[in-house]
Parts: sequence; structure tokens; C-alpha cells
Amino acid sequence: MAPSIVFSLVSLLLVSTCGYVQPLEEGFISAVLSDKGLEFAKELLIEKGIASTVMLQLPEIENSAQVPLVGKAKVVLSNITINNIQVNSSSVKTGESGIVLVISGATANLSMTWRYTISSWLIPIGISDSGNASIEVTGMQVGLTVNLRNQEGSLKLTLLDYGCHVGNLLIKLEGGASWLYQLLVDAFEGNIASAVEEGISEKIKEGIVNLDNLLQSLPKQISLDKTAVLNVSFIGNPVLSSSSIAIAINGSFTKKNEVLVPLDYQQGLKISAACGGLQKMMKVSIHENVLKSASLVYYSARKMQLIIDKLPDQDILNTAKWRFIVPQLYKRYPNDDMQLNISVSSPPVIQLTYQDIGATIFLDIIVEVLEKGELIPVAIISVKIGASCAVEIVGNNISGRLRLQQLSTYLKWSKIGNLHMYLIQSVMSSALKTVIIPYLNYKLKRGFPLPIVDGYGFQNAIILYNHPWIAVCSDVSLEDYYLGQPSPYIS
Ligand SMILES: *[C@@H]1O[C@H](CO)[C@@H](O)[C@H](O)[C@H]1NC(C)=O
Ligand SMILES: *[C@@H]1O[C@H](CO)[C@@H](O)[C@H](O)[C@H]1NC(C)=O
Ligand SMILES: *[C@@H]1O[C@H](CO)[C@@H](O)[C@H](O)[C@H]1NC(C)=O
Ligand SMILES: *[C@@H]1O[C@H](CO)[C@@H](O)[C@H](O)[C@H]1NC(C)=O
Ligand SMILES: *[C@@H]1O[C@H](CO)[C@@H](O)[C@H](O)[C@H]1NC(C)=O
Ligand SMILES: *[C@@H]1O[C@H](CO)[C@@H](O)[C@H](O)[C@H]1NC(C)=O
Ligand SMILES: *[C@@H]1O[C@H](CO)[C@@H](O)[C@H](O)[C@H]1NC(C)=O
Ligand SMILES: *[C@@H]1O[C@H](CO)[C@@H](O)[C@H](O)[C@H]1NC(C)=O
Repeated sequence: MAPSIVFSLVSLLLVSTCGYVQPLEEGFISAVLSDKGLEFAKELLIEKGIASTVMLQLPEIENSAQVPLVGKAKVVLSNITINNIQVNSSSVKTGESGIVLVISGATANLSMTWRYTISSWLIPIGISDSGNASIEVTGMQVGLTVNLRNQEGSLKLTLLDYGCHVGNLLIKLEGGASWLYQLLVDAFEGNIASAVEEGISEKIKEGIVNLDNLLQSLPKQISLDKTAVLNVSFIGNPVLSSSSIAIAINGSFTKKNEVLVPLDYQQGLKISAACGGLQKMMKVSIHENVLKSASLVYYSARKMQLIIDKLPDQDILNTAKWRFIVPQLYKRYPNDDMQLNISVSSPPVIQLTYQDIGATIFLDIIVEVLEKGELIPVAIISVKIGASCAVEIVGNNISGRLRLQQLSTYLKWSKIGNLHMYLIQSVMSSALKTVIIPYLNYKLKRGFPLPIVDGYGFQNAIILYNHPWIAVCSDVSLEDYYLGQPSPYIS
């Protein structure tokens, strides 16, 4: 491919000027790769490309030529090996019709073995010789255009155009006669250049197929536990603009093996790659509805229940402790153990604000007394808890930490007459702070995974609250990548 073709690839792209704001298909999670992220991806691709091309063996080349005074020489070049490649400058451009990667001014060093035989009527006994040569390739241009499309919820990477052009070749013979040198230059230069161009083009094709396979292998669903599945299928085609790539992900939680009440999706979401003035490689935005669907799934799976029959202060779970606060209870069930059956009475209301995540949780606490091996419900106390949740990134998961903001209680049902609710509320408040909130925080700590390719991790992640979205802006780094990869340096 001629250099002009490489550059015309770039002009093929209709560079859109919509800047950072992109209309996306409906989806509750979106991910935007910024120009910094694209730059990172480009460097990574080039690095991998070079690693896969080094030590590449090109096919043997055979040619014969009439050499003045010597006769007809048959020359075979074999073991043509690319030893190293150095990239001077490269660029990546995105536009509506694809992503273009151009490498210019690359150099490569090759080694090869030459062998010739001469037979002519002048020399009745065949002459042959062999030796090594090195080749320096300079001014190499490599270009490729790919497109990203949605194919049944996965991303499909298609190679639209690609090519490699060798600028100059410098052959250095080790041994050999000067006529041989001239012959190599005259008769083989073109063959060697094409072999290099074809070899590298083939590697590009292979590389894109591998990358496509990697994209296809991304899960469409993430199974979080026995209850919930997060749909991480891609929705619609990625939106490529001049400085970023944005993708939409379904992001709804469903119960395993069950279909859930549909939530409202919005059309034409406006997603911004802005990260509060910071340059970050990518931004993953999560809509309030992701949390709402999680809330619904866990609620309807009856997973929001908790039995408390052990406490650090076990006395609290005995009617004797309540003798003065609830005398009726002690009178009726003296010295009996109690347990609390706490269940969430309606799906928690979750709102993403401009500061944090607000949650309102409605609980029913059934106070049960254990009398002669039988659990007897004695009262049901309804509790409304207002909590805020601060979000953090743990590994590649987004996780939360709850803080109690507000608490109100009322007696819903009682077998033991009226209760002094203000006393109960203060006990409840301390129970929440010492037992229930820490328990929920323990559950929340693991969080749920953000969509990111295996082997990569978030680095210097920040959280942005922007009602009704919450976003994670982050750089990406290779994480334990070389673990599990055979290393030539470790035996
Ligand atoms: C082919 O070239 C490589 C790299 O220069 C070298 O390590 C290898 O020994 C060569 N093989 C043969 C058969 O000459
Ligand atoms: C590398 O690129 C710079 C400009 O981008 C150029 O000045 C320099 O000569 C190039 N070096 C090589 C070895 O091609
Ligand atoms: C490539 O070969 C040239 C000449 O033999 C040498 O100067 C240069 O250092 C080599 N490049 C690398 C990266 O080894
Ligand atoms: C050519 O290179 C190979 C490996 O690099 C070496 O074993 C061989 O001796 C060299 N041949 C000549 C003729 O220099
Ligand atoms: C998202 O996935 C859920 C099930 O996982 C499905 O019911 C819903 O229709 C999907 N939303 C869109 C916009 O495709
Ligand atoms: C997941 O979401 C995709 C895209 O919205 C949808 O087509 C698919 O049906 C959903 N998967 C399940 C299992 O519901
Ligand atoms: C706790 O209460 C819920 C709701 O009333 C009930 O469905 C569940 O069976 C109770 N669990 C125990 C262990 O008593
Ligand atoms: C992330 O979440 C998944 C699923 O909940 C869990 O298996 C994993 O251990 C979590 N990772 C971290 C670092 O907490």
C-alpha cells in the first residue's frame, strides 16, 4: 500500500464536530473512552502488534539472474526474520465511519541467510556459497481502519482497510561478493519489501481477529450471586466522535431465571465524557435505574431479610433486659429469649442526587419471644430509615457505604399493649448503628463489577454525582497482566 493510501484512510473519516456530547441509545450504563483513553489503547495495540511480529519468519525467496562474467546465479534467501520494530510516530483518529490507526516512520531490522549456486558452461563444476545478511527497513508506514458495531449485544470489530508500505531497504551482506550484493539489491529488493509488507499486513489481520474474539468473549450477563443477574449487553452501535468512543450497556438487574418488570428507558441520552476538568481515560456512567432494578430484584427475591438472634450484648435479646422499658413483655414472658425478624417491607427507594445516593428503606421488625421452644410474635415495629450512601471503587467493583441520616418508628401491631416508642426508638437507633448498618455495609462492600476487560484495572478513579447518573472517571492500567503469561525470564 502506498503512503498516500495510508493517509487517505484518515480523510475517509467524516470527522464530526459534536465535541464531547453524544447522543446514545437507551441504556442504564454508558462507557466513554476519551482521547486519552484512545491514546492508551493505541499504545497498547502497537506494543502487542510489535510483540507478535518480532521473530516473524517470512517465506523463503528464490530468484535467479544472469551475472556478467559469472553466469546464471540461483539465489535463495531464507530464514528472513524480523528482529525488531521501532515506531517513531503513530496516531489514532475516530470518526463516524471508523477508527483509523496510522504508524509512520517505523524502522525494522531483519536478518536472513543467503545461498547461491552458479552453473554455467564456463564453470563446469557448480559453485555455491552461503552467508548471512541484515536488512534495515526505514520509513515504514502501517495503517488500518476498523469499525465497531453491535452484533446481538456484543461488540463486533471489523477490519475495513489495512496496509503496510516499506520506504527504504538497506541490505548489509556478511561475506559474499560484490556482484552478489548488486544482484540482491537489483533483483530482490522489491521481493523483500513485499514480503515484509505482506507479513506485517497478515499480522494486522490476525491481531484484529484476536481482538474481535476478545470482545466477543466479554460476558453479556454478570451473575452477581444466587439472586441477581446484571445484563451487560451492549445496546445500539458505539458512537464514534472525533475525540471519543461511547457505548451504551443495558444495565438492568434481573432475577435469575425470571423476567422483571420493565423500567422506563430514555431515548437519545446525552452522555458527556467530561470528568470535572480532569483528564481521564474513560468514564463509566450508571443511571439511577440500575440501582432501582437491583433494589427491585433483591426485594422481590425476598433477599432483604435478616434474623437477629445473636448480639454482642446478648442480654438485649432477653425479656429481662426489657423489664423496665416494656414491663408487659417481661410480665407475660419472664426471662425468655427473643429474636428479631427484620424484613424490608417495600422496595427501597433509591435516588441519585448531586452529592450522593439517597436511600429510604422501610423495615418491619417482628419481635419474637422464644417460649418453650416456640417462637411467638409479640410486636411488629415499622421503621423508616433515611440513609445516604457514598460510593467508592473497590478493585473493579463499585461499592457503597451507608450512613444513617434519619430514623422513625411506629408500632404496627402488638400483643402486649402499647409500647413507649421513644425508648424503643433509641434502642433501635443504637441497634441500627452497631448491628444492621455495619451488616449492610459488609454486604455492600463487595459491590458489583463495572464493565472492564479482564486484566485491566481502574487507576486513580474518581466518582462524579450528576443526578440521575453517577459516573466513575478513571485511568486504566494493566493489572497483574503478566501473571499467568509464560515469561522468558522466569523459569
Ligand atoms: C534463523 O534466524 C534466527 C534469527 O536470526 C536465528 O536465531 C536462527 O538460528 C536461524 N535459523 C537458521 C536455520 O538459520
Ligand atoms: C521521527 O519523527 C520525527 C518527527 O515526528 C522526525 O523529526 C525524526 O526524523 C523521525 N526519526 C526517524 C528515525 O524516523
Ligand atoms: C538496526 O540495525 C542498525 C544497523 O545494523 C543498528 O544501528 C540499529 O541499532 C538496529 N536497531 C535496533 C533497534 O537494534
Ligand atoms: C549466520 O548466522 C547464524 C546464526 O545467527 C550463525 O550460526 C552462522 O554461523 C552465520 N553464518 C555465517 C556464514 O556467518
Ligand atoms: C435490558 O435487559 C432487560 C432484561 O435483562 C430487558 O428486559 C430490557 O428490555 C433490556 N432493555 C433494552 C433497552 O433493551
Ligand atoms: C439483555 O439486554 C439486551 C439488550 O438490551 C437484550 O436484547 C437481551 O434480551 C437482554 N438479556 C436478557 C437475558 O434479558
Ligand atoms: C420473618 O418475617 C417474614 C415476613 O413476615 C416471614 O416471611 C419469615 O418467614 C420470617 N422468618 C422467620 C425465620 O421467622
Ligand atoms: C467484585 O464483585 C464480585 C461479584 O460481586 C465479587 O465476586 C468480587 O470478589 C468483587 N471484587 C472485589 C475486589 O471486591
